[in-house]
Amino acid sequence: MYFIANWKMYGGLNSLNSLHKVNKFFKTFKKNKSLRIIYCPPNTLIRPMSKKLKKSNIEVGAQNCHEKDSYGPFTGSVNSKMLKNVGAKYVIVGHSENRQAGETDKLINQKIKSALRSGLKVIFCIGETLSQKRKKITNKVLNKQIKLGLNKIRNNSKVFIAYEPVWSIGTGVIPKSNELFTTINFIKKKIKKSKVFYGGSVNPKNINELKSIINIDGFLVGGASQDSKKFIDIIKKTYN
Ligand code: PGA
Repeated sequence: MYFIANWKMYGGLNSLNSLHKVNKFFKTFKKNKSLRIIYCPPNTLIRPMSKKLKKSNIEVGAQNCHEKDSYGPFTGSVNSKMLKNVGAKYVIVGHSENRQAGETDKLINQKIKSALRSGLKVIFCIGETLSQKRKKITNKVLNKQIKLGLNKIRNNSKVFIAYEPVWSIGTGVIPKSNELFTTINFIKKKIKKSKVFYGGSVNPKNINELKSIINIDGFLVGGASQDSKKFIDIIKKTYN
């Protein structure tokens, strides 16, 4: 199981202090070798976090990247090569918070290609909005996001999918288990052999319900991952 901590726009150097708890937990938690933990902090913390986690098997990733992997006059932007250079092994692409800010499927496709060229693994986010869900066009929306996002990418082996219904992010609301199972299945049929994660309001209270959905390969945790205790709790409960 994969557990991805998406810190979003959170954290300073002092936020790294509690990571030793996660580190210690990970080292002593030998129950299941399939456990993978990936931290995606803001870019400012990638380097110090990678250093802090150097001796552990916890990996570090970024939350977004520019679509070009060469240097260029793009003020405020960081590309996938630069992220790799400071210790990132993964990058989240297509998060709904960036889609809502204007990121198109085409741009997402360019970003994924650029990240793969730079040797990063990609956590590719897809998900429908509440109005799309109400219109019952979830599968159509996901299909389009997948098709355009992965356009002309022949090798998907380094792309993980994070299904994050927009209406579930930061709201405390999670999909019904049977609906989630069906949607994850739909995604898995579209992208053969790909691991599919769920994200959206994952917390220590709802993890027991979520973990029972057997086709989920991991969780993308936003708010709750900023608190090491909660994040550890989520992982522990998943394996209990
Ligand atoms: P949340 O965020 O857990 O705070 O809902 C998840 C995400 O946006 O990846």
